[in-house]
Amino acid sequence: MSEQFPNIDMDSPERIAEFVAAFYQRLLADERLAPIFVEVAGIDIREHFPRIQAYWEKLLLGSSDYQRHTMNIHRDLHGKQALTAEDFQRWLQYFHDTADAHFAGPKTERAKMIASRIAANMEKALHS
Ligand code: HEM
Repeated sequence: MSEQFPNIDMDSPERIAEFVAAFYQRLLADERLAPIFVEVAGIDIREHFPRIQAYWEKLLLGSSDYQRHTMNIHRDLHGKQALTAEDFQRWLQYFHDTADAHFAGPKTERAKMIASRIAANMEKALHS
């Protein structure tokens, strides 16, 4: 195994927190997506990050801390500014790029698979 790219999986709360930080570094540097988070939703990172972490801990580690209705939250967001096919494409590309840049292993593969599936379902639901 290469020392430069250790085989670190997204298999603990600490690693999920690292993933979320790296993912949002990309999202918030994107000229199209950043304003959706910052201006349209006006997120407070101190509240938003723990929610995103809890969401992925639930999906990857089976924890039950996240109990919010993600679809309704995106439906509200979509009502303020339409989330386009290109927005979804970019969001998902950053998710995959972040995962591949820092992590590898079964949980990482699972995270990418789940993200792809949920993004496709969400996009379809918002545009139907
Ligand atoms: C076009 C793609 C997407 C954009 C632009 C986007 C943007 C956002 C924004 C702005 C928020 C904050 C909403 C608020 O606090 O009012 C949010 C929350 C969230 N998003 Fe997304 N999102 C996208 C796709 C997804 C997908 C595909 C997933 C799941 C795989 C996801 C998971 C979440 C979660 C878990 C939250 C936290 C909701 C909460 O407060 O409990 N997002 N998203």
